[in-house]
Amino acid sequence: MSGLSFGSYYPMKEIDVETASFVCLPITSNKSGMKLLARNDLYLRYLTEYESIPGWVSYGIFYILWVIIRFQYEELHINDGAIGEIGVHAGKLTSYLYLLRHLNKKQKLFAIDVFGKKELNIDKSGDGDRKVFLSYIQRYANVTADEVNIYEGSSLDLNSDFSKNLEAQRWWKTTIKRDRGCQLVSIDGGHTTLTTYSDMCVISNSLVDGGVVMVDDIDNPEWLGVRDGGKPGFNRGCYEACL
Ligand SMILES: C[S@@+](CC[C@H](N)C(=O)[O-])C[C@H]1O[C@@H](n2cnc3c(N)ncnc32)[C@H](O)[C@@H]1O
Repeated sequence: MSGLSFGSYYPMKEIDVETASFVCLPITSNKSGMKLLARNDLYLRYLTEYESIPGWVSYGIFYILWVIIRFQYEELHINDGAIGEIGVHAGKLTSYLYLLRHLNKKQKLFAIDVFGKKELNIDKSGDGDRKVFLSYIQRYANVTADEVNIYEGSSLDLNSDFSKNLEAQRWWKTTIKRDRGCQLVSIDGGHTTLTTYSDMCVISNSLVDGGVVMVDDIDNPEWLGVRDGGKPGFNRGCYEACL
């Protein structure tokens, strides 16, 4: 399908079969659309304006996430686990994750980023801004500030092995993890070995049965800390899923 325009909303120059399938799903399948909170025009807006949103997200991930969430909803009947991201920057990927939330609104939405506490961003990965983040999730996922649980600080605070920040750990346990756990999480915060390892431990210990954690930059040679911190966990097979 390379080189085709895809309907009036999608004047894409290059579009592969996978992307095309992804684009088709939310707009043509009423059944799918009805199961999701996001209305189709939100998808359209996100997809058509996606390139102008600041951040780092490859197009191919959308189809994979769409399939994962449908599998969780339709086959595993998980529709109440938390959805969120560590390291949100302007919310480019987070907006998409939030778009996938279920109509029943039982899922906690969360975001963890150092935002204004720049000194905690020790490897200078990205440059999150709380106000900008909130404006993008509002525009692209129709999520308001009071619907998202934000932790402004280092994600290391959530791990009692590396931090004595009991308040942050309590927030994670009682507000996000609760008695249920996480359903779909992206790890894309600090890119050091320690931070990635810690984030993997926190999230993998918080997943619902059938939950998925994804780690950005795991094979990016510019961020070897992610490989070193992330892969040991995957190799030990202690995580629920690996993308
Ligand atoms: C690569 S960017 C994230 C990109 C984003 N996921 C997207 O969709 O474009 C990394 C983000 O992690 C944040 N960050 C860096 N160190 C962190 C830490 N230790 N804890 C939490 N967030 C951190 C930065 O402020 C930045 O917003």
